[in-house]
Amino acid sequence: MKKGKFIVLEGPDRCGKSTQAKMLVNYLIAQGKDVILTREPGGTETAEQIRQIVLQPGLDVRPMTELLLYEASRAQHTQEKIIPALEEGKIVICERYTMSTCAYQGYGRGIDLKIIDTLNQIATLNTVPDLTLVFLMSDKYFVERGEYLFDDRLEQEDRAFRQKMRTGYLEMLASTPNAYLIDADKNIQAVQAEVRKLISEHHII
Ligand code: TMP
Repeated sequence: MKKGKFIVLEGPDRCGKSTQAKMLVNYLIAQGKDVILTREPGGTETAEQIRQIVLQPGLDVRPMTELLLYEASRAQHTQEKIIPALEEGKIVICERYTMSTCAYQGYGRGIDLKIIDTLNQIATLNTVPDLTLVFLMSDKYFVERGEYLFDDRLEQEDRAFRQKMRTGYLEMLASTPNAYLIDADKNIQAVQAEVRKLISEHHII
C-alpha cells in the first residue's frame, strides 16, 4: 500500500526543473524527510539504457517507437523504483512523468492522446502523482539558457514544436488535479520559494 508522496516536476527543456528538484530534495532532507530523487526517461539501470537510445542524436527513432520507449522506461522505473519507495513511505521526487509524454509525443508529435493515456495507465500501474509542478518559461529563455548546452535529440526540435508543447501543458494544467503552474522566468530563489509553498500547502511536510 502507498504510504509516501509522489511529486513530479514537469515542463519544457531548460526550464530549470533539475536545479529546483535538487534544491527541493536538499530542503526536504534538512527537514528530516526520507526522500529520493529520480527522473524519466531513466531512474533505474534498465530505464537509463532505454534513455540512451531514445535521446541519442541522429538515431532513426520513429514517433511510435519513441512513445513506446518512453513508456517502456516508465514501466520499468515505476515497478522497480517508484512503487517500492512509496510503499516504504518515502517522498519520491521525479523529474518528468506521464505529462511529458502527452506534451512531447501527444501535443508535439501529434500521436492520439487517447493512445498515450492508455499506455500511461499500463506503464504506471495507475500510479498518480500527489502533486505535479509545471515549470513554464518564455521561449527566449530556452535559447539563452541553451547557448552552451549540448542538444539531445528532443532538444533539437524547433520553436513551433515547443509552442505546441506549451499549449499542451497549459491544457493539462487546467484538467489535472493537484497540478500547478510555476513561472520559471523568475529567479531561482523565487521559484524555489513557490515550490516550497506548494509542498507545504499539500502537507508533504
Ligand atoms: P530531460 O532532458 O528533462 O532529462 O528529458 C529528456 C528529454 O525527453 C526531454 O527533451 C523531454 C523528452 N521526453 C519525452 O519526449 N517524452 C517523455 O515521456 C519524457 C519522460 C521525456
